[in-house]
Amino acid sequence: MKVLVLLSVFWLPGILGQISNKKFPESFQFGAATAAYQIEGAWDEDGKGESMWDRFIHEDPDRVKDRQNADIACDSYHKWREDIELLKELGVTLYRFSVSWPRILPNGTPNKINQAGIDHYKTFIKALKEAGIEPIVTLYHWDLPQHLLELGGWLNEQIADYFGEYARIAFKNFGDDVKIWATINEPKSTCLIGYGAGDSPPGLKLVADGVYQCAKVQLLAHAKAYHIYDDEFRAQQGGRISLVLDTTYNEPASDSDADKFGAELETEFNLGWYANPVYIGDWPELMKTRIANRSRQEGYSFSRLPEFTAEQLKYVNGTFDYFGLNMYTGLTAQYTGEFDIGEPNYYLDKGTSTSHGADWTPSTVSWLYSYPVGMRKLLNLVWNKYNPGTIYVTENGWASDGSLNDQGRIDYLQAYLSNLLDAILEDGVNVAGYTTWSLMDNFEWTEGYTQKFGIIHVDFDSPNRTRTFKESGRWYQKVVATRCLID
Ligand code: NOJ
Repeated sequence: MKVLVLLSVFWLPGILGQISNKKFPESFQFGAATAAYQIEGAWDEDGKGESMWDRFIHEDPDRVKDRQNADIACDSYHKWREDIELLKELGVTLYRFSVSWPRILPNGTPNKINQAGIDHYKTFIKALKEAGIEPIVTLYHWDLPQHLLELGGWLNEQIADYFGEYARIAFKNFGDDVKIWATINEPKSTCLIGYGAGDSPPGLKLVADGVYQCAKVQLLAHAKAYHIYDDEFRAQQGGRISLVLDTTYNEPASDSDADKFGAELETEFNLGWYANPVYIGDWPELMKTRIANRSRQEGYSFSRLPEFTAEQLKYVNGTFDYFGLNMYTGLTAQYTGEFDIGEPNYYLDKGTSTSHGADWTPSTVSWLYSYPVGMRKLLNLVWNKYNPGTIYVTENGWASDGSLNDQGRIDYLQAYLSNLLDAILEDGVNVAGYTTWSLMDNFEWTEGYTQKFGIIHVDFDSPNRTRTFKESGRWYQKVVATRCLID
């Protein structure tokens, strides 16, 4: 008996790993995240309309790396009970997912409501709550109804009104059970990739001006949904609503003032672009002056950055109840003074192995490097600059080849969560929750199924889309249970 006890004392840390004595506060909520288009499948079932992603990929499969699509994806539209079982097994109390606009309004407009879609989400949300899991519901995670794209998509200010109508229907139907809403996920990605690089729908390359118009319309749409919630639902439903922004943490490549300025530019053009109008009021000054100057040089008599009217500024400013932050990676910025299509005059690169004392471990996807201290620094930046009151880290995760043995993901999550915890405990930043990306492997947009972000594996070759815990899933389960990080 004694031998056994002694052995287990020596063995246990070996089995469980080293448990750090830093502990997440009891109020902190752990969770996982997904998005409708990436997991649901059932792309045309039960009355769902076509989304711009359905059309974009069906039209030309070569737009996706492995020529695959999300017609079935993880089949979560049918396998949602199993997804809830997985969340229960993980022990998490938050699940961030999105509802599909064209599943609720097949052509995006309120003149046709798909009751089957509403019923599906109602049942799902009820079951989640019964399992003790709180939903964070994203209204728009990139699956714009195709019909609205044909009306001009995110370049047409009227789309903001349509978004408001859709949001109202969602609040009305799900708001008794949903207390955390996210209006729009990563508006920057939609605008830069869809209207700038042209790699996602609508596939336009309107680099110089389209991306800014898209941003303005998305901000108006977000604000519309916020005000509808505020005016018509908040008193009775008592939830919170905000938008989800993503950014890298940007380090100057050197100590030079020029590189420091490069890093600041990158932050303003990526995060400030959306955060300033909502949390401070108006576009960042740096953007306004640089784009105005650049426009003048190009022969414009106005700035390519569309102005908000005074009324619009007021309408957008203050439309938040928390800050939803997607954070994956860092960048080093080197200022070259050259003009570049991304607007700022600087050159960006990923970190090198020597920069900032970090290892910048690469993942399998080109844009994602491990830069854990960036999490702590970014949380502090957001906290101090935007005064959001509460922050949720709504995405953070690692891309790998999908194998069950995913030590790289464990190392990444461990290091990022440790920095997140330091931000809470050492710096006093109020981070209320964390939903890791992703609950399970899923359809990674134009990367198809070549990039796997899940802590749970999905077998896309099996008709059953079998789900299996990866080692990172087991590791996360222990972190959630102990509220401590395991090295
Ligand atoms: C951001 C997006 O919100 C999500 O849809 C995507 O899969 C992850 N990041 C990983 O790229």
